[in-house]
Amino acid sequence: MATTTTTTPARATQAQPQDRQAGREIQPFGTMTRMPLGLDERTCAASAEALTQVLADTITIRDLYLKHHWQVGGPTFYELHLLFEKHYKEQAELADAIAERIQLLGGVSLAMGHDVAEVTQIPRPPRGREDVPAQVSRLLAAHEMILRQSRLSAREAAEAGDDGTNDLLVSEVVRTNEKQVWFIAEHLVRMRLVESGQDGETAPA
Ligand SMILES: [Fe+2]
Repeated sequence: MATTTTTTPARATQAQPQDRQAGREIQPFGTMTRMPLGLDERTCAASAEALTQVLADTITIRDLYLKHHWQVGGPTFYELHLLFEKHYKEQAELADAIAERIQLLGGVSLAMGHDVAEVTQIPRPPRGREDVPAQVSRLLAAHEMILRQSRLSAREAAEAGDDGTNDLLVSEVVRTNEKQVWFIAEHLVRMRLVESGQDGETAPA
């Protein structure tokens, strides 16, 4: 029968993971490191600040899509359930690209929900469920906010010579958001399902 060891085992100090270390911030939010990008430091700081707003709003609309993916109901449930998830994934990719650009410019990316909530311009939705027209309208308003901000920031980045930030905002953020607007806005068109209407006759609500 095995006997129980009561003595303290020898500690293998070299192989011991050095856990339980107090977190030490190495770069506070809002500060910049200088990266050898051939860009003026003020330009990098301005781009990082502009991208921070777009990042906070992108993370928020990403989560809005996930909320609606879970909470959607009604006759178009299946289609919207899948479409909202597709847009959620596309927004997640955008958030990653924006956050990584902030880091490569020498800035610090926002990441956690409570920090994002303090910066985003998109209004907080209720915790509960909304019907499809309210869900889609809320998403469209959020998209429009992002589009206005992104176009403005893209122009400012181009004027300052930061072509990479301009390209990210135009080629990825603006184009993705514009296309998503189209795909969800069409769900708010009164469209007849079975019988075509007469001239001038609108479809029933
Ligand atoms: Fe899901």
